[in-house]
Amino acid sequence: MATKSNYTSDLRPFNIVIFGGNGDLSKRKIIPALFHRYADGQLDFDFEVICTARAKLDRTLFLKEVEGFIDSKDTKKIADFFKHLIILEIPKNTLEAYAPLKIRLEKTAKRQRIFYFSVPSGAFSEICNMLKGSGLVTNTSKVVLEKPLGHDLESSKQINEIISQAFTEPQIFRIDHYLGKETVQNIMVLRFANHLFERAWNADNIENIQITVAESLGVEKRSGYYDKTGALLDMVQNHLLQLLCLVTMEPPSNLNPDAVRNEKLKVLESLRPFTKESIRKNVVRGQYTRGSVDDQKLNSYREDIDAYDSETETFVAIKAYIDNWRWKNTPIYLRTGKRMKKRYSDIVINFKELPHNIFQDSKQPLRNKLIIRLQPEERIELVQLSKVPGPGGYRFKPISLKLDFIDSFDSRMPEAYERLIVDVIRGNQTLFMRYDELAAAWEWIESINTHWRSQVPLSLYESGTWGPGDQILEKDTKWKTN
Ligand code: BG6
Repeated sequence: MATKSNYTSDLRPFNIVIFGGNGDLSKRKIIPALFHRYADGQLDFDFEVICTARAKLDRTLFLKEVEGFIDSKDTKKIADFFKHLIILEIPKNTLEAYAPLKIRLEKTAKRQRIFYFSVPSGAFSEICNMLKGSGLVTNTSKVVLEKPLGHDLESSKQINEIISQAFTEPQIFRIDHYLGKETVQNIMVLRFANHLFERAWNADNIENIQITVAESLGVEKRSGYYDKTGALLDMVQNHLLQLLCLVTMEPPSNLNPDAVRNEKLKVLESLRPFTKESIRKNVVRGQYTRGSVDDQKLNSYREDIDAYDSETETFVAIKAYIDNWRWKNTPIYLRTGKRMKKRYSDIVINFKELPHNIFQDSKQPLRNKLIIRLQPEERIELVQLSKVPGPGGYRFKPISLKLDFIDSFDSRMPEAYERLIVDVIRGNQTLFMRYDELAAAWEWIESINTHWRSQVPLSLYESGTWGPGDQILEKDTKWKTN
């Protein structure tokens, strides 16, 4: 039995049904996240995790696989948690095949129902029809949708219409796991709970902002999905744009879901769309070739996916502008790529040079930099100039003031999915996307997608490098490379 805790009060008994229960995401992230919340005493009430699968699964093998992804040695607790886990075969989309699910859910009819769609969005429509047709969607039910929701604005609209026939907007949780990362939530705390930065957070004081999500892995086993998607839709349309919103939005008046989402929406609607002309200078698309990461020799993307004519991008860099008062003409650089030299993500705020230098001896430009490191370490770093000790005038050196979360808080950093799934159980939509946000993101992405294949040549880059992002930088600007 999990330890009693004082933070379960607004959580209530639930059954979570995972469609795609046997998939990678379910085994690696969703089920382990539920385990950790359970082990921490937060799910101290009745619940069931119902993993649905098309094929018959061997329970022992399945649990063994899941256990491999759980970061805990407490086998007793894992075994207790697994008592809440049910595997249910739903071989096809017929009301008959859904009957066992109906019986299962109706046995505990008072619990809220959470339907987690961890399947490609093409499958949403059939599942929704079956859930509705079986009378399984109640007023308190919720649905969690994994990205990508469609492949363009039009298809995302269609998916949204289908979902809306079964669920109302307050019941829909569009998940972007970046919003569940502790440091990402900390961006709001840094900006809106501290006096220091917000006054300087604008075009008058900030030269540019750089957002990087670099991965050292390649496409791994996801070639079927990835080759149809590419980095623009896989990473920029969702994760990078969400980071951009949190860094640049106006302060919401409170933390209510709509107060926050209204502000994010305004940012997305103010993004300057690309034209056939502007895209050439401001967008880079790349694809990895052979190379090495950590001294390991690696194949090219085309070899990895066994398709030698693929034009899919594994790297994107974009120089974006937000056309509003606060950010007028401030470049916001977005960069993401696979097979980069190292895995790291951060947001760098480059402040403008001070208007006047009284230290004539020093050639060092007088400017600060704030680095919000999201991964692998979670840290905030303020780079400021300091005097080098000793006589003979003023010589400066950039010194970093570092706040490492791991050192400052004596607790394990929860995985993004843990926070987000608990928010679903609680019914808090603050960290989930509303449809109008999603549509605005698609609209901007479409201004890139429409033109870039004809206007921006694919730049090949060697695995284990930082990719071809330099092409869009202004003179004097440098990417921070870890
Ligand atoms: C996923 C993308 O959403 O995010 C993957 O589909 C990517 O391609 C992953 O690797 C990165 O997530 P994280 O949390 O490891 O940075």
